[in-house]
Amino acid sequence: MMGMRILVIGSGGREHALLKGLHADSLTTELHAAPGAPAFAELATNHSEYSQVDDPARMLELAQKIEAELVVVGPEVPLVAGVADVLREQGIAVFGPSKEAAQIEGSKAFAKDVMAAADVATARAEQVSPDASDDEIAAALDRFGPHYVVKDDGLAGGKGVVVTEDRSVALDHIHAVHSAGNPVLLESFLEGPEVSLFCLVDGETVVPLLPAQDHKRAYDNDEGPNTGGMGAYTPLPWLPEDGVERIVKEVCEPVAKEMVKRGTPYNGLLYAGLAWGPEGPAVVEFNCRFGDPETQAVLSLLESPLAEALNATATGKLAELEPLKWKDGYAVTVVLAAEGYPASPRKGGVIEGEGLDDPQRVLHAGTKLDEDNNVVANGGRVLNVLGAGSTLAEAREKAYDVLEGLKLEGGFYRRDIGKRAQDGEISI
Ligand code: GLY
Repeated sequence: MMGMRILVIGSGGREHALLKGLHADSLTTELHAAPGAPAFAELATNHSEYSQVDDPARMLELAQKIEAELVVVGPEVPLVAGVADVLREQGIAVFGPSKEAAQIEGSKAFAKDVMAAADVATARAEQVSPDASDDEIAAALDRFGPHYVVKDDGLAGGKGVVVTEDRSVALDHIHAVHSAGNPVLLESFLEGPEVSLFCLVDGETVVPLLPAQDHKRAYDNDEGPNTGGMGAYTPLPWLPEDGVERIVKEVCEPVAKEMVKRGTPYNGLLYAGLAWGPEGPAVVEFNCRFGDPETQAVLSLLESPLAEALNATATGKLAELEPLKWKDGYAVTVVLAAEGYPASPRKGGVIEGEGLDDPQRVLHAGTKLDEDNNVVANGGRVLNVLGAGSTLAEAREKAYDVLEGLKLEGGFYRRDIGKRAQDGEISI
């Protein structure tokens, strides 16, 4: 196959992982990133002046300027803003769903509607609008609990969810979401360990990647506030042998079919966030893009060419793609977060240590260079440290070894990523 020029939209650890995977592929001749990040410079040409990734006209301008043959959209915001639609209208192949299909993440109520039509198991849910009275809110809370799941019914980057048994905490979050003008979605709590399954989807064709598990709480033992994700491991030693197949058959394929039926076929990455309860998988949420940080671990085990897989999806040829091949063993990624994350991360702290310029060990989620050329924290989640090995224990050890050698004042990370799975404590 001929080589191709690829533009990746985004600037975080997920995009660093995508670029690393694409760079290793002989199909790639040239890589570009918008806006990208200084740490991507070894792999791609950064276009930092194109930072408005949710502006379809700007993204089109760049794609045309560099004559991109494939655009891979990392984050959800540009997808929900319709970037993929505008690029496709101009004949550019895009990996990422249309604005309408991206509503699967953009509107939790839309996702619930699709799941109801596709007969997919999910939590019971009720929308509470910002103009609901105090009595109406109290009555809605009465219909849920004792575990309250309160979601911002809009884009919140995985951070808009509060799960609590404390009614006053649930109420505070409802007020916070309402005061931002958004509706709230109250949901019943789904029992069971969580699974993130990413699928390449092209119309009705669904190809799963390896299943992973994220760790959403900020601190060890699943304590502290919800975050965008503090670390992940893949695959899942506790998942039944037919686990991925069941999720594909019971969740992802019915949803893909329903999207086609609605006239809004899905093209790109469908992220199914699930809880595996007594009855099997039930959907917690869908996202319309690769998950972060699970992608960093999942792609590190992919043996098949990434550019070919993304291009086949984007060009409607996913059904013809050879089955994906994976390395044996396990991969882990651990997030190094800045002091104060998630509430108010401190930017500007200098990061030092081994592996900062080695994407096999460290991917950059939120860093930049200061005027003295130091690598400094520039976001809440700063680095994604990687480890791989033939066992989960070995993969964890490798990741934590790298972390030991890194320094960021006030920075912190969870020490128990993948630990419960390693210790055989997760069962279904
Ligand atoms: N890992 C959570 C997310 O990507 O939303």
